[in-house]
Amino acid sequence: MTVRYEKAGDVALLAADNPPVNALGLDMRYGLQDGMARALEDGARAVVIYGHGRTWFAGADIREFGKPPKDPMLPDLCNTIEASPVPVIAALHGTALGGGLEVAMACHYRICLGDAKLGLPEVGLGILPGAGGTQRLPRLVGFAKAIEMITTGKPIGAQDAHDTGLVDTLAAPGSDLRAAGLAYAEMLLASGAPPRPTRAIPAPEAVDFDYAQRQVAKKARGQLSPVTALAAVAAAATLSFDDGLAEERRLFNTLMETDQRKGLIHAFFAERQVSKLPELAGVAPRETDHIGVIGGGTMGAGIATAALLARRHVTVIERDSAAAEAGRKRIGTNLAGALRRGKIDQQTHDALRDDHLSTATDYVALAHSDVIIEAVFEDMAVKKQVFAQIEAVAKPGAVLATNTSYLDIDEIAASTSRAADVLGLHLFSPAHVMRLLEVVVGDATAPEVTATGFALGKALGKVSVRAGVCDGFIGNRILSAYRTAADHMILDGASPYQIDRVMEDFGFAMGPFAVADLAGLDIGWANRKRLAPTRQPHERVPAYVDRLCEEGHFGQKTGRGYYVYDDRNRSENPDVIPLIEAERAERGTPARDFTDAQILRRYMAAMVNEAAKVVGEGIARRPLDVDVVLLMGYGFPRYHGGPLKWADLQGLPDLLRDIETFAEEDPHFWQPAPLLNKLVAKGASFDDLNKDAQT
Ligand code: CAA
Repeated sequence: MTVRYEKAGDVALLAADNPPVNALGLDMRYGLQDGMARALEDGARAVVIYGHGRTWFAGADIREFGKPPKDPMLPDLCNTIEASPVPVIAALHGTALGGGLEVAMACHYRICLGDAKLGLPEVGLGILPGAGGTQRLPRLVGFAKAIEMITTGKPIGAQDAHDTGLVDTLAAPGSDLRAAGLAYAEMLLASGAPPRPTRAIPAPEAVDFDYAQRQVAKKARGQLSPVTALAAVAAAATLSFDDGLAEERRLFNTLMETDQRKGLIHAFFAERQVSKLPELAGVAPRETDHIGVIGGGTMGAGIATAALLARRHVTVIERDSAAAEAGRKRIGTNLAGALRRGKIDQQTHDALRDDHLSTATDYVALAHSDVIIEAVFEDMAVKKQVFAQIEAVAKPGAVLATNTSYLDIDEIAASTSRAADVLGLHLFSPAHVMRLLEVVVGDATAPEVTATGFALGKALGKVSVRAGVCDGFIGNRILSAYRTAADHMILDGASPYQIDRVMEDFGFAMGPFAVADLAGLDIGWANRKRLAPTRQPHERVPAYVDRLCEEGHFGQKTGRGYYVYDDRNRSENPDVIPLIEAERAERGTPARDFTDAQILRRYMAAMVNEAAKVVGEGIARRPLDVDVVLLMGYGFPRYHGGPLKWADLQGLPDLLRDIETFAEEDPHFWQPAPLLNKLVAKGASFDDLNKDAQT
């Protein structure tokens, strides 16, 4: 029974009970429709709807999207509730989101627990509020607030909802919702309060929708749903309520058909699926209360901050007391930032800084650590030395982790006497902000050590993805392939600025060369030097950027790289094109033109092809793992769903054909991934592999 019915005196109570989030799937819609009818048959003088469990309705059931709709549809259910001849009261708690908030707005009165969150997050799923939200919300809170909520999708707190008129009254957090809803209904009945349909409220004063459109389009960066949602809201200013609803439905249906909707919903489920690994079912993680961090540089300080924010006790080891002090200062700055952004209050900030954090120069201070993460210089000899020192002091059962981005974790593990305790925890900088964690599992890593990596990731608020060992694991290995494709295009005639523009138009916040400047050109330089001894003669690695590094130009941190930086504005560095032209001349490669479409195709084909190799080799378990890594760690535009979802939507046979064509020019770089060949031969998609992995 998804909706439980009860009559208490004159009031009918409908309790929604569809764990985990009371999604408004078909059964729930039936249950509410029947409950309303039964209440009226029973002679109820008021109806209270509330959610059992952890939340009011958190929205439509997203799993139904893309399937044929079934009656009763949510907009009709909302209209039925709103048309009730007796007052209907929504008693809200938890998260009243999307279709859930739309049901609440179709009710006549709203009472809400003080810690609830209310919002219309549909744009984040590539759609718009499709059950009257774009027409009812402006009538309740005005156009400015409605536009903000609907086009950003960001939920608001209960107090804000009360102040703006979205809810009528607040109840203390933790109150008994049934009792609060019932008391409010009885009070309304006693005061003779009539049904109060939101549709009867006149549309508020219009705002400058053209200006709003320009603002929303600018922020949306190619995403269709915010702009389309705004058009639906604007309809409330000019059309009758029913015509506005019809316009909302029309626009909703267009968005439902888009690839962006498919990409965003894939991203939603992939993010939740990614940490579910069959091999970890029933495997208990070890403790993660005390975290040791070796190195207090940017990365180490970020890791320590993330652990502190998760209320862990943290010990940071540095080589001398000056370095330890500098590390403490960096962590202090990070914590102050978290305080400023309202992530922690002053008392918590002080406790984390003064009681939870210690620094030391002697590894002995790590004797009680449950998990020890090294974040020292990327050099195998240095890492091995650090692990030898860790091993000497770590308690039995401590998890020994490396934050390396590239190096062979099996080799590091083999240098210790407890390889089963060793794994990679690859966080992304700044580690207290970026949400991706690659949990890199070595040949010898014990299952409970992997489980501990995932448990720690969850405690730190990260999205954790399992990766196998190879150079660069999932993300950096794929990055290295698409960067190589970009480098080849530059040697053949494209400019870094054209490539950056094309990829930014595709939806990346930054193109690859702007990213290189941000990360520091010295990182790529060191990497090129590291790989030089094993480089094959056919590999084409550009040298022009080494010239910049040799002159001390490392990108943003020195103010000069591919771009010149001046007060956060960037402009093209005039030295770069001449350096590229000189290198082309030296190599005897004539420059040719690339269209924007050709650049996009090659760049994406390289990304997809390498990603398919990563999945085919088992470095990533499923295509969705790759998608999540690129989405969370590499700025891949969420509305394309990740590279392998994008590939599915483009069609794999065409992509494979392109790769084969590119291979005619450069058969070494463009070797089609065996998995791609296999999928095309079977007429299958990457998503089929995701589904197979679930069964
Ligand atoms: N439909 C179907 N399943 C949903 C769902 C939904 N709307 N919301 C959450 N779930 C599922 C999740 O997939 C997850 O399933 P698994 O346990 O199988 O992985 C489970 O519910 C729990 O979700 P979370 O892990 O996300 O739990 P949380 O406590 O971290 O977060 C939440 C809870 C804030 C409600 C979050 O799940 C969320 O943001 N959900 C989506 C809300 C949303 O976008 N609603 C709008 C839907 S679209 C709509 O309503 C259209 C319309 O206008 C008609």
